[in-house]
Amino acid sequence: MPSSIRSTLGENTVAVRMPLNTTTSASLLTRSQRSLAMGVSSGMRRAGAPTPLFFERGEGPYYFDVDGNRFLDYTLAWGPLILGNGHPAVVTAVTKQLSKAFAFGAQHRGEIELSELMTGLLPGVERVIFSNTGSEAVQSALRLARAFTGRSLFVKFEGHYHGWFNNVLVSYRPHADDAISPLPTCGGQPPHEFADTLVVPWNDIGALERAFDEHPQQIAAVLTEPILANSGSCMPDPGYLKSVLDLCRRHGAVSIFDEVITGFRLAIGGAREFFGLQPDLSVYAKAMAAGFCLSAVGGRSDIFRVLDDGRTIHAGTYNGNPINLAAGIATIRTLSAPGMFDRMHAHGMAIRGRIESAAAQHGIEMATAGSGTVFSVHFGLSAPPRDYRDTLLASADISSKFRLALLQRGLLVLPDARWYIGAVHGDAELTMALEAIDGAMQDLASIDSLQQTTREGSR
Ligand SMILES: Cc1ncc(COP(=O)(O)O)c(C=O)c1O
Repeated sequence: MPSSIRSTLGENTVAVRMPLNTTTSASLLTRSQRSLAMGVSSGMRRAGAPTPLFFERGEGPYYFDVDGNRFLDYTLAWGPLILGNGHPAVVTAVTKQLSKAFAFGAQHRGEIELSELMTGLLPGVERVIFSNTGSEAVQSALRLARAFTGRSLFVKFEGHYHGWFNNVLVSYRPHADDAISPLPTCGGQPPHEFADTLVVPWNDIGALERAFDEHPQQIAAVLTEPILANSGSCMPDPGYLKSVLDLCRRHGAVSIFDEVITGFRLAIGGAREFFGLQPDLSVYAKAMAAGFCLSAVGGRSDIFRVLDDGRTIHAGTYNGNPINLAAGIATIRTLSAPGMFDRMHAHGMAIRGRIESAAAQHGIEMATAGSGTVFSVHFGLSAPPRDYRDTLLASADISSKFRLALLQRGLLVLPDARWYIGAVHGDAELTMALEAIDGAMQDLASIDSLQQTTREGSR
């Protein structure tokens, strides 16, 4: 067998290091780049040694690539595949809907079913709207907040990712010597498009207070990832998110949790349930529809009145597409089964624990950060990072060596060292993951320059 992992469910599992053959992927990338810009469909997918991989198919928590390798997947397609590929409930729901209609461009019962499901499960969510991607839904939430408050400015935090639109792709990856101020992340972002975006450091309530003081009655919304999953999975300090919500209330601004990652991942009720908080609005995508294109904004009923009375609009040809909604309904119903999230968190915490203990055994300095269902690994840090700037001190070089060592044992994690745990990961997968971690850490320990690189923090 060409792949490193030789086991399937039920067989004995041994994560042995094998030479990883990626010849076909590499040659497909070269061919792809001739006609497809970058050779990949999202800039985020360009990273990842030895080459961006091309896949043939997925089965449960496993991916099969074009070179015949099989990988145990902890990327979950950057989060959505919480049930893995081919979950029978989703297949049945989507197949049934396919036989009825692909699209209506009009109303159907699925919209009511999913709205009622969400308002029943998400604490404080009284109404919802649907769209297709997280990026779109973030824009809808901002528009609602602006129409509701009659204000233009909004606050985002450094290192937080809210999609690729110009007004939010701001100060996402600043350098350590950059000042904390609104900075474009890439070319093609004219300054006037983010002139209404204020940037402050996260986990620093004083900084947010100052922003409100400096812009009285002008801030429409504060937009935050409840866990900073896109930059090292930093956790909010105890009480921080509540203070953000309180400040928003005091200043008449709309508080928005961007739950594109945390929604239906931290708990069935997402960050609202996990942290026991009710922001004015939340944005959902990814795990809500098991890999199908579906996003939503949910929250306080009175905010959505700006749509009822025509103060603003929400539109989109594919909004409420019945196939995506069928996938969403099946996914959320499946995730609602008792014990689902406890199992996922336990799986993730077991992996985090093993990464930490294996590193300690070899004297490798590192920390993990995040929750059980989404977390990040930071080499060269002695404690979990609290904010984006802390993550800059970690070693991207060691992280990528660790990722490659895992890949050689058939375990797939994201290039930014983020792990996603799903309901699709069971005991057999945990055994494989722990063995692969032990082996990969052993590899790291044998690299002579490791200690030196750890200190340099090459990110
Ligand atoms: C927190 C957050 N918000 C928004 C987005 C954008 O979602 P999409 O890629 O579906 O447009 C992402 C994507 O990763 C995200 O992580």
